[in-house]
Amino acid sequence: MKLANWMSRLGTETAFEVLARARALEAQGRKIIHLQIGEPDFDTPKNIREKAKTAIDEGYTHYGPSAGLPDMRAAMAEYLNKTRGLNYIPEETIIFPGGKPVMFFTIMALCNPGDEVIYPNPGFPIYESMINFIGAKAVPLPIREENDFNFDIKEFERLITHKTKLIILNSPANPTGGFLEKDDLEKIAKILAKHPDVAVLSDEIYSRILYGSAKHHSIAEFPGMKERTIILEGFSKTYAMTGWRLGYAAGPKDLITAMARLATNCHSCTASYAQIAAIEALQGPQDDVVKMVAEFKRRRDVIVAGLNKLPGFTCQTPKAAFYVFPNIKKLGRPAKQVADFLLQDAGVACLSGTAFGAFGEGYLRFSYANSVENIQEAMKKIGEALPRLERMTAA
Ligand SMILES: Cc1ncc(COP(=O)(O)O)c(C=O)c1O
Repeated sequence: MKLANWMSRLGTETAFEVLARARALEAQGRKIIHLQIGEPDFDTPKNIREKAKTAIDEGYTHYGPSAGLPDMRAAMAEYLNKTRGLNYIPEETIIFPGGKPVMFFTIMALCNPGDEVIYPNPGFPIYESMINFIGAKAVPLPIREENDFNFDIKEFERLITHKTKLIILNSPANPTGGFLEKDDLEKIAKILAKHPDVAVLSDEIYSRILYGSAKHHSIAEFPGMKERTIILEGFSKTYAMTGWRLGYAAGPKDLITAMARLATNCHSCTASYAQIAAIEALQGPQDDVVKMVAEFKRRRDVIVAGLNKLPGFTCQTPKAAFYVFPNIKKLGRPAKQVADFLLQDAGVACLSGTAFGAFGEGYLRFSYANSVENIQEAMKKIGEALPRLERMTAA
């Protein structure tokens, strides 16, 4: 079948491809350590699971409103107001089957072909994919190690033109673990004050996975910004609910109404019983989240120390999320080749930095959503494999 032209513009998320290759190797009897996918390895907290089960028995098995059940919308508004000091009303929120559809529908609802969208690079690959798909112009905002994996504010300002329609921010960030401090956000808000027609998609899905003194802030908290910001939040990471497919957005009411119209056309509504469980996630006990984050911190320290001991690797200590983005430039090989080699030879699945955009060359991304034992084993296997990579270089 001949596919439509726009399909050639659609990108992908390499983590799913590497997962499939890792599974194929496992099917041949190989042991693979999975450090490629951004998925907490914890179970969804029990109170949330129980709530879903009773919700099914209580009949939450039917269609609901496209933007979400009224209690769900009230819970999202309340949660965002509590955590960000904002004043959303339920009509300014919408639930989706995952955080990803928020990107899809925001870009679809706001951008015309030819509009410019500034997005982080390296960044979550679906941003670039969706911008290209819609026919808008993807303008990469380089995220550099020398800026602690944040961006240069002056460089950012230079990228804004009269065609800029949308800016995508992601803090805490995938794939780098980068984090925008309150001061940085304030500077960004000041620049945007000069460009009142530019909207912001603020992907805050890792807002609860923070270490040490890091405190999450949203760009929407700054004067004049809430009216043109769409916050992307979700349940996948904070509550280990990746397979439930639950995420949400908050933003101006007219945009939310447009997104609900798109939802009606696409998936009708988000699973009703899952929404009841999601309300429990936001309003119930948060102890499991706190425990999970403490465990992630322990693993972060293990993986950062392990990577820094490997020849040719240097790795910063991220303040947030559950990823590390080590520099492997000294290995003198394209990052994709190194990632492929580590999967084939060492049995360690990770991603090339270029899976997140061209500015990711020279880096690998490891997710440390795996046990300390497996992380240590992975570091050992990589250490043993690296001399073989060197010999390959010589050959
Ligand atoms: C930065 C970022 N935003 C959004 C998502 C999408 O999350 P979901 O699984 O809820 O669609 C991810 C998932 O990896 C992510 O890393």
